Amino acid sequence: MSSLSSSSTESPAWKAKRIGFGAFGQVYALEGRSMAFKVTTFESAKILEKEFEIIRTLYVTSTSTGSDSPSLFVIPRPYGYYKPKGEDSAAKFEDVPASQTSTKRTLGPPLTAEDAEQLSAMLPVQGPMCAMDLIMPIPLSIAPKIRRFYPKGSDKLPDPRLCRLWFGKVIEESRLLQVNTDSFPLDVERYTVVSQKDDAFPTAEEVALGMGVMLSRIHWRAGYSGRDIEFVMGGLDVGSLGFYCIDFNQVGLFILILPCLLTRSFSLRWNSGIKP
Ligand SMILES: Nc1ncnc2c1ncn2[C@@H]1O[C@H](COP(=O)(O)OP(=O)(O)OP(=O)(O)O)[C@@H](O)[C@H]1O
Ligand SMILES: [Mg+2]
Repeated sequence: MSSLSSSSTESPAWKAKRIGFGAFGQVYALEGRSMAFKVTTFESAKILEKEFEIIRTLYVTSTSTGSDSPSLFVIPRPYGYYKPKGEDSAAKFEDVPASQTSTKRTLGPPLTAEDAEQLSAMLPVQGPMCAMDLIMPIPLSIAPKIRRFYPKGSDKLPDPRLCRLWFGKVIEESRLLQVNTDSFPLDVERYTVVSQKDDAFPTAEEVALGMGVMLSRIHWRAGYSGRDIEFVMGGLDVGSLGFYCIDFNQVGLFILILPCLLTRSFSLRWNSGIKP
């Protein structure tokens, strides 16, 4: 009888992989775990801590409750903020009640400081980190439809992991020469091309409505601006697409003063920086 207990299965080495980066942070996944870790520099610790607080608030307030229609875009569930080393090491953890979850996943017990310390030590860079739900990649069956926008000679590049949905921009061909497969951008025209005649995709209009619903919840329920946030498309499970809102390190308060109601341009300038 064959046995599964060979030495290669007994002690898995938990490998970390960088799955995204931006001007502010690097994002890692650990093999076998469904968490993403956004890591930044020690100098930026306070900003990341604030980002964690914002994700925590948005996760609760943007989740549909009662008679609300569910929103297409969801916020990844936050697990915790952790700053390693030194006297001012810090740890904060999410305490979202199970009934508030916006994903199908069952909520387990929250992360502990010991968990965070161990997870942080497994990452190749040490710094303040924010742990949240890992967004699954674009399903394999859908990726070829997006690859058609890769420039010639990109056959060896991996499939897109996520797509940024930039519906307010026209992305010139030249911008796609440097392919970012972690987060490939789609403008509304390209999205319309990939989504038409395929029931796996919501229509471009439904996506735009979903962005509006999320933005309105961010503004009016949570009281935050949407500065520099990203609307992205990834996977939900093996074959389905999932839509997520991420990247809140530049978000500030959404300030409503009476003149904003009268002078739309003032309000837009004050809360500017919304990408889509
Ligand atoms: N929860 C997640 N699951 C999977 N991938 C993620 C997750 N969060 C972020 N990423 C990936 O990491 C990339 C960088 O993350 P993020 O945009 O938060 O970093 P940033 O440095 O703040 O970016 P920017 O410079 O645009 O402000 C994202 O574009 C996305 O590809
Ligand atoms: Mg950012």
